Amino acid sequence: RTYEIATIPGDGIGVDVTVEARKVLDAAAAQHGFALRWTEFDYSCERYSATGAMMPEDGVAKLAGFDSILLGAVGFPGVPDHVSLWGLLIPLRRAFSQYVNLRPVRLLPGTTSVLANRTADELEMVIVRENSEGEYSTLGGRHNAGQPGEFVLQESVFTRVGVERIIRYSFELARTRSKRVCSATKSNGIIHTMPFWDEIFELVAAEYADVAAEQCHIDALAARMVQHPDRLDVIVASNLFGDILSDLAAAVTGGLGMAPSGNINPERTHPSMFEAVHGSAPDIAGKGIANPVAQILAATMMLDHLGEVEAARSVNAAVEKVLEEGRVATPDLGGKATTEQLGTAIAEAL
Ligand code: NAI
Ligand code: MG
Repeated sequence: RTYEIATIPGDGIGVDVTVEARKVLDAAAAQHGFALRWTEFDYSCERYSATGAMMPEDGVAKLAGFDSILLGAVGFPGVPDHVSLWGLLIPLRRAFSQYVNLRPVRLLPGTTSVLANRTADELEMVIVRENSEGEYSTLGGRHNAGQPGEFVLQESVFTRVGVERIIRYSFELARTRSKRVCSATKSNGIIHTMPFWDEIFELVAAEYADVAAEQCHIDALAARMVQHPDRLDVIVASNLFGDILSDLAAAVTGGLGMAPSGNINPERTHPSMFEAVHGSAPDIAGKGIANPVAQILAATMMLDHLGEVEAARSVNAAVEKVLEEGRVATPDLGGKATTEQLGTAIAEAL
């Protein structure tokens, strides 16, 4: 069969790594007897600079009929980051009810963790980030601008439905893994939303007697991720906390160049969207040296989601083989290879 895939390469290294992910996926598709029809969209900061908008007015509607979306990254110097985030990523995540942001990390073969003496088993975790509400909110505003009494309010929104579904998702996921869930909050300082989250966590946990449930303060959890990552597996967190924890988790495993992410609509009422955890990396953009592995692994999450589980497994194996050999490695992995060379090596390893 043929899958209809929308691709938004976006800005900076998003463009480079998306090309490589497409190359690898096309090779996997040919091998496993299906096809991917790619339709490219130019939604980006470049488009914003030219037209005043990250995407056209019907930008979301244009993507609605696709089986999945593969996104590079958006954001570039000269365009404020909140413009790129709120002009593209957040509207898509919300319009398509992609309320789960799934961010698995693991120590891949041939790579080393910044944490000495940690094995791959000890460093396998998944962050389940709430992706539709929470701290990412437009409610609030600036008052008494420029006056001595100036103040700013920023409200968070946590709904019962929103909190319960993400927590439930994390327990279901834990059943397929280690049967352990840790919830990250900060209920001593944030006294309305976080205790509400804790309360719902306890209610859901009571339904999953076979899963060990634990609640942590985000600060202590951050320390634990560095000192005792072996005691963590599924971590469920709000939009902001999940975002922070996923960069940390990526850093303690293989680095940002290796961490994939899926914006998932579990009910499949709309397309899900897959991307690397990292951004557009303006510091290395245009140099052709970005590590494409994160984007390629995001693409394997897309294959899994589409039901092409065997193809996803093959791509994962090819990534592992190339990393283990270590002959073709980008500078972040200690090598001299280009983005294109590493992508090609993975496609050839297939
Ligand atoms: P970043 O993730 O783009 O870069 C952080 C650091 O990691 C940089 O030093 C970069 O060179 C390095 N890095 C990232 N990906 C890499 C890769 N594949 N290979 C090798 N090194 C890699 O985060 P930063 O610098 O905070 O943000 C840059 C821009 O990206 C901003 O405009 C930001 O808003 C945007 N952004 C977009 C995201 C998205 O589209 N989902 C997510 C995060 C940031
Ligand atoms: Mg982030």
